[in-house]
Amino acid sequence: MRAADPDDTDRMTENTMIHTGFGAESTIWDVVEGVDLSGRRTIVTGASSGIGIETARALAAAGAEVMLAVRDTAAGERAAVDIRDSTGNQAVRVGRLDLADLGSVRAFVVAWEGPLHLLINNAGVMALATPELTDRGWELQFATNHVGHFALTTGLHDALAAGADGDAEARIVSLSSRGHLRSPIVFDDVHFDQRPYDPWLAYGQSKTANVLLAVEAHRRWSPEGITANAVHPGAIYETNLSRHMSPDVLERVWSQVRERQQRSGGFGFKTREQGAATSVLVATSHQLDGIGGRYFEDCNQAQVLPPDFTPETASGVAPYALDPENAARLWELSERMVANTG
Ligand SMILES: NC(=O)c1ccc[n+]([C@@H]2O[C@H](COP(=O)([O-])OP(=O)(O)OC[C@H]3O[C@@H](n4cnc5c(N)ncnc54)[C@H](OP(=O)(O)O)[C@@H]3O)[C@@H](O)[C@H]2O)c1
Repeated sequence: MRAADPDDTDRMTENTMIHTGFGAESTIWDVVEGVDLSGRRTIVTGASSGIGIETARALAAAGAEVMLAVRDTAAGERAAVDIRDSTGNQAVRVGRLDLADLGSVRAFVVAWEGPLHLLINNAGVMALATPELTDRGWELQFATNHVGHFALTTGLHDALAAGADGDAEARIVSLSSRGHLRSPIVFDDVHFDQRPYDPWLAYGQSKTANVLLAVEAHRRWSPEGITANAVHPGAIYETNLSRHMSPDVLERVWSQVRERQQRSGGFGFKTREQGAATSVLVATSHQLDGIGGRYFEDCNQAQVLPPDFTPETASGVAPYALDPENAARLWELSERMVANTG
């Protein structure tokens, strides 16, 4: 047997699907077992509730220094106390970050000092019933879920590059959703100026953007030791994400999840600790060393769907969300949006 050729290894990892041995039922405690993050510096956005708080808890339990990047700092402080108490790790801090306000993102970036090893872009808003715009006239889900995270990620590039120290890469994890199947990026009308606003198309577009950010960040930055992947956490109802939905709409969404589960025989609702498992695994597992530009769900790499998939029933990642041309185009659009905010 000849020695492994590094080029072969590259080709193999490019094409091989990642199967980790974990699954839909795995929790943060399963995937973080045996992981040592001592000395690793991490940021989790939206870590004052839901999946974010459990993601932060797992990283802290593994010994990382954790920054909870939140817009409600009082809620962030309560989460930090809870995480310190439950893990014994005192290195849990709170920083103010409002992703819908690029001034706030800039202030957060400027205040960050030193290297960064893990950035978990977790915060998000979903399906606002009526269109809401930022003061720049940007649709709020696209502005919060994507543009704010784009500004944060690019602003922290140098810290991530400094965190990639040869021993281990720096990683970005981008929280998407199976909701991305509802919409590609509609480049000609991102903010619904020329078409009727639809809460799910707007959420879907923003969640496609989360995948494309990982694709392009990985393409640009992997030579510097920074990898980026996207995840769908699953369906978790014990979070605040559905706060903008009426009880009727909420019931309809949950019954769709139940129907999909019955049809596929798959897994239904997850607990928060199960929902955060894919983020934590993708952030920390050596099985993903050097891997990027991919989409994971239920702790494994997801299948790429055929172009004619049915959004209501499909499960996997849409081809448009992994498309390198879309990723490059979105990056350029986002750079222009962020640059024009003075
Ligand atoms: N739960 C699910 O079934 C599910 C499914 C697929 C994908 N996801 C994704 O998972 C991620 C976490 O969601 P979750 O279910 O844990 O919901 P959640 O409990 O509502 O958490 C979302 C977090 O985002 C924060 N956030 C919202 N707008 C923000 C802004 N402008 N600036 C900074 N932070 C902001 C929220 O902070 P405030 O409390 O201050 O509003 C909250 O802490 C989201 O990206 C979501 O799209 C969730």
